[in-house]
Amino acid sequence: MSSGWSWWVIGLVVFNLGVTFCLFVWAPRARVPTLPDGTTGHVWADGTLREGMHRLPRWWIVASLAMYIMAFGYLVLYPGFGNHPGTLDWTSGKELAAATAANAAKLDPVLHRTAAMDVEALAGDAQARRLGERLFVDNCAGCHGRAGLGNPRLGVPNLTDGDWLHGGAAQDITTSIRDGRSGVMPPWNSLGEQTVKGLVQYVLSLSGQTYEADSAAAGEPIFKAICTACHGPEGKGIAQLGGPNLTDAIWLYGGTQEAVETSIRDGRQGHMPALGARLSDGDIHLLAGYVHHLSARGNSTAR
Ligand code: HEC
Ligand code: HEC
Repeated sequence: MSSGWSWWVIGLVVFNLGVTFCLFVWAPRARVPTLPDGTTGHVWADGTLREGMHRLPRWWIVASLAMYIMAFGYLVLYPGFGNHPGTLDWTSGKELAAATAANAAKLDPVLHRTAAMDVEALAGDAQARRLGERLFVDNCAGCHGRAGLGNPRLGVPNLTDGDWLHGGAAQDITTSIRDGRSGVMPPWNSLGEQTVKGLVQYVLSLSGQTYEADSAAAGEPIFKAICTACHGPEGKGIAQLGGPNLTDAIWLYGGTQEAVETSIRDGRQGHMPALGARLSDGDIHLLAGYVHHLSARGNSTAR
């Protein structure tokens, strides 16, 4: 603060505290003329309401005095009186630094321990899971849901089903979180309405749903010519390209005829942001452990 502003603030503080303190000293002594019945003589509502006159209660005077003492004490101890730093030398920056250091002193040994564990071990460690869950709720739940069940309307995958677009090994999960993932499914409307219909029926047949045999038979050669490049020769997916398995009952965008048709006709571009810039390596490691735990737990209960 420049010295001009400092004096401005000092002036304001002195003026405000001075004026209110003068009022405080003057008010209990002030004599207000009263009538013999103890009222001031002011009358409202045709005489129904008369203005009484009472002295300030003692507790109010004591409380106000205590407040003045606290205000002056504060201005001596803490910053507030222009550039005067306060005798305690307190700043919000120093308080934050102290709190951060105290937090780190508690957390560092824990992070040191978890950093040395592999992802599978983290999934089995209660303390690591608790930390991972906190990080998941703060950074991932907005898209993946609090329980990690995903959202088919937005193409966000379920992380608890043990099925992976980009691989479920510890390294794959870590890469998904740190570098993000983008699924690129091109739109195929240019193939024509009839061909898209055939492809839809063939995809339905792959996943064991009811389908129209003639239409699916027409779609099969086109699927084998184009779609296998990313979805694998049998439609079972290719993790390196993020091409999902189309033969299971697990769908990123839904497995109804309409949803499959929309996927094929309009394409899909799911995007998982890279969180490496926002989260530390230690946090990403804990998250990978937590995601591993979610998928292992989902495997054992949901199927
Ligand atoms: C903005 C929404 C969003 C946020 C936030 C987000 N994700 Fe994702 N995540 C996605 C989408 C969408 C995909 C699928 C990408 C694709 O289509 O290939 C995905 C994919 C993944 C995958 C790969 C799944 C697989 O089947 O291979 C993992 C693992 C994952 N996310 C974990 C996380 C974790 C952990 C966090 C929090 C640190 C997180 N995500 C935050 C949207 C999000
Ligand atoms: C360039 C690679 C590529 C090609 C070629 C491709 N796909 Fe895809 N497909 C993907 C990817 C990647 C996804 C997942 C999109 C995402 O992550 O958002 C996907 C998603 C889908 C889905 C949605 C799956 C779900 O779980 O909801 C269907 C259905 C599908 N593709 C069918 C086809 C068919 C049929 C063809 C051939 C005409 C085809 N794909 C060609 C890469 C491809």
